[in-house]
Amino acid sequence: NAAAAGAVAILVANNADGPLQGVTVGEGATIPTGGISKADGDTLFGKNGVSTTVDLRFHTEDKPSRNLIAETKTGRKNNVVMVGSHLDSVDEGPGINDNGTGSAALLETALQLGASPKVSNAVRFAWWGAEELGLVGSTKYVQSLSFEQQLDIALYLNFDMIASPNAGYFVYDGDNSDGVGAGEGPYGSSQIEAALAGFLNETGTPTEGTDFDGRSDYGEFIANGIPAGGIFTGAEGVKTAAQAEKWGGNAGVAYDKCYHSKCDNLGNLDRVALDRNADAIAWVTASYAISTEDINGVPPK
Ligand code: PHE
Ligand code: ZN
Ligand code: ZN
Ligand code: ZN
Repeated sequence: NAAAAGAVAILVANNADGPLQGVTVGEGATIPTGGISKADGDTLFGKNGVSTTVDLRFHTEDKPSRNLIAETKTGRKNNVVMVGSHLDSVDEGPGINDNGTGSAALLETALQLGASPKVSNAVRFAWWGAEELGLVGSTKYVQSLSFEQQLDIALYLNFDMIASPNAGYFVYDGDNSDGVGAGEGPYGSSQIEAALAGFLNETGTPTEGTDFDGRSDYGEFIANGIPAGGIFTGAEGVKTAAQAEKWGGNAGVAYDKCYHSKCDNLGNLDRVALDRNADAIAWVTASYAISTEDINGVPPK
C-alpha cells in the first residue's frame, strides 16, 4: 500500500518533535482481505431495517492490507476523539475524490494540530485499509478492541469523499430526521451532526442530512454503540434543481460522475468544497479534542 507508506513517511517526518506519538502501521497485524467471513451479497450489518451488503465482485486475490493509526501524545486516553478516512481505492480508478480527499484533509489536520489550545482529549487518527472490499480495515479494528477499549472512544468522525466535482454538502443524519432511508445513530450522533452542520451553515454553506446507514467506515463504530458522524459530498446520486440553486453546480448530473471509475483523477475535484470541508474537519476535530461535553452529557428524555 504505497499511499499508506507515503502517509507514514510524511507523518513521521513532520512530527519528530510534534504532537503525535509513534505512528503504528496495522497495529502489528495485516488485514487478510481474502479472509473476510462474509460472502458476496451478505448483509454486513443491519440497523433500523437498513443494511449494507458486501460486494466482492472484484475480489480476485488475497492481499494483505493495513490500517495506519496515529495518536496525540497528550490528552485523556479514556475519552478519545477518533477520526478516520479510508486510504484504499477501487481497482477501477486512482481514487482521488474517493478517498484521497478525506485522507488528505485528515493528514493536514494531524499536521496542524498543535499544543495550543490544550488538547484535553487524545485524538486518534486512522487511515483505513480495504474499505472498498466491505469496510474490512475499520471493522477489524473495532472488533479487535476490548469492550473497555471501545468505551474509551468518545466518538468517531468519518471522512469519505469530501470534494466531489458536482458537490453536495451532506452531513451524516445522526438523528434520523433528514436522511433518506437512514438509520439513527447511537446517542451522541445527533450532536455530532449538529456540530458539523452548524459549522458549515455558520460559515456560509447550507447542508442537508444524508443516509447514516453504514455505507462507510463508521458502520462498525455505530454497530457497537460509539457515536459517530461525518461529511460527504455525494457519489452516484444526482443533484436536484433545488440543490443546484443552493450549492451551484449542475442539476441532473451525478455529484461525482467519476465515482469508482478511471476518471477519478486529480481533475476530479471541487477545490472550493475541499477547502470548506477541510476547514470543517479541522474545526470539529479540534473542538472535540478540547471538549466532548455535549456528547457525554445527559441524554434527552
Ligand atoms: N463508502 C463509499 C465508497 O467508498 C462512499 C460513500 C461514503 C457512500 C459515504 C455513502 C456515504 O465507495
Ligand atoms: Zn469507494
Ligand atoms: Zn470511499
Ligand atoms: Zn439529521
